[in-house]
Amino acid sequence: MAVRKARGAKRKKVTKRKPAKRATRKKPAARKKSATRRTKATAESMAKRQREISVSEFFAKNRHLLGFDNPRKALLTTIKEAVDNSIDACEEAEILPDLLVEITPVEGEDERFVVAVEDNGPGIVKAQVGKIFGKLLYGSKFHSMKQSRGQQGIGISAAGMYGQLTTGKPMRITTRPSKSGKALRMEVRIDTARNRPEVMREREAKTFRKGSGTRVEIQLEGRYLKGKQSVDEYLQQTAMANPHVSITYQGPGEDEPVVFKRASQRIPDPAREIKPHPHGVELGVLARLLKGSPARTVKGALQDAFSRVSSAVAGAICDAAGVSTKARPGAIANREADLLYKAIRKTRIMSPATDCVVPIGQELVLEGLKKEVDADLFTAVTRPPAVYRGNPFVVEAGIAWGGNLPADDLARVIRFANRVPLLYQPGACAISKSIVGTTWKNYGLQQSRGALPVGPLVIFVHVASVWVPFTSESKEAVAHYPEIVKEIRLALNECGRKLGAFLSRRRREADEAKKVDYISKYLPQIGIALQEILELSDMQTTRAVNKLEDVLERSRKH
Ligand SMILES: Nc1ncnc2c1ncn2[C@@H]1O[C@H](COP(=O)(O)OP(=O)(O)OP(=O)(O)O)[C@@H](O)[C@H]1O
Ligand SMILES: [Mg+2]
Repeated sequence: MAVRKARGAKRKKVTKRKPAKRATRKKPAARKKSATRRTKATAESMAKRQREISVSEFFAKNRHLLGFDNPRKALLTTIKEAVDNSIDACEEAEILPDLLVEITPVEGEDERFVVAVEDNGPGIVKAQVGKIFGKLLYGSKFHSMKQSRGQQGIGISAAGMYGQLTTGKPMRITTRPSKSGKALRMEVRIDTARNRPEVMREREAKTFRKGSGTRVEIQLEGRYLKGKQSVDEYLQQTAMANPHVSITYQGPGEDEPVVFKRASQRIPDPAREIKPHPHGVELGVLARLLKGSPARTVKGALQDAFSRVSSAVAGAICDAAGVSTKARPGAIANREADLLYKAIRKTRIMSPATDCVVPIGQELVLEGLKKEVDADLFTAVTRPPAVYRGNPFVVEAGIAWGGNLPADDLARVIRFANRVPLLYQPGACAISKSIVGTTWKNYGLQQSRGALPVGPLVIFVHVASVWVPFTSESKEAVAHYPEIVKEIRLALNECGRKLGAFLSRRRREADEAKKVDYISKYLPQIGIALQEILELSDMQTTRAVNKLEDVLERSRKH
């Protein structure tokens, strides 16, 4: 009681001390403010705001993830997506690719261009045009285990979406899917809220090129600059790694187009599609494959779903898991799937087939480097196929040294993945990491810790795989899988050893030449001394000096 009284007394005292007017004016206002700021959410109120997110809305917000973070990069990414698609389509149809790339400034507009990429590929059937260009995550390559430039089903629709966001204009596609049929021109928009195409206009294109092919036109906000990471560099490197492709490039403000001529008439061997290898498969994927299998038994389902699983191997997996080979795959419970998954990891299974990966090849890497730079030494290597997470891959490396390359600069690195030049994010890429991690001092080059080697050097690295593990959707850098890093290092070591041998031979020759020059400088003096000591006639002295010169000359040649 006493306590309560005391408290009451205290409270009274406080209100007494403050002027009544101030207290009544300020306190309710403050309380009101905090009440509007802090409305507590309930599960029900949150439920009203929870809804599905459209994939295109997500990527419109996060367009930097797709390589559209600034106008310069956006211009490059748009051309890259369209060119990669065109070459992929031509190769699939076994057509030697003939590409036309145009960048035309829009009159009266600053930093606005129309990008057009035209190919002589197989074309696109009418019913597919809308979905390909007006829907994100729609394509033919994602589900196939086969080497190609594209893999995600997002590239060209994202470029169109960027154009639409920055200029409000739809994409314009002209395509003729058969040699003799009519060419169709369509305008496609993407409904970002629903990730659905809106085909706006559709008519016959009478003036379109002869034969089959596709032309994609996108108006966008972009910035055109030459130099490093430019469209010009991308096309030049594309021509270097794809000698079978011919590209005519009309840059903005240029009088004449640049033509990258075809250097090889051979279309690369078509990459073979494979099934996943069981050693790379994850538990969830295994369970899904078994559940969806049309096979009548687990043994049959394993054989159907995976590569390198013969009847004997499938039997061995079932035995090791303690699961009947005759069990119905659709009835496999989670626990059994887990047992099968563990058994797969313990079973010896042949490595994946490797004809699904098509490298550029040592000779063409050398040819490409020779076309690009003027150097004294060229060397290249194509490694045997290796595997990461069940995906086969091949690493190729090449080195050019000397010539008119700058001697005091850091080495220039040219990176490729599935024959596509990678121009951005070198710091995040396994290729750069492997180059920096190689001890170039062993091969006679200078190198600071954690840096690229110094010298007149170009380093070329290509990673080819049925699925290149990129660090993001913009496909700019290869992820650091230990198996990939190791293969790149081995390829670099092989090239490095050849460079080291070349440099030490050069150094030895230079040293010897120096010695010979030094001796020949003193030959007349040796002649005088010999004449004095041996009392030779002038003729004898000349003969002796000539003989010494002869010996020196012969030793230089050896
Ligand atoms: N020029 C073209 N000729 C024929 N087919 C094409 C052409 N361009 C695109 N396609 C088809 O459209 C699909 C979608 O292309 P898109 O660039 O969006 O995805 P992708 O190439 O499969 O993968 P990524 O997102 O990695 O580029 C392709 O898979 C291909 O089947
Ligand atoms: Mg693509």
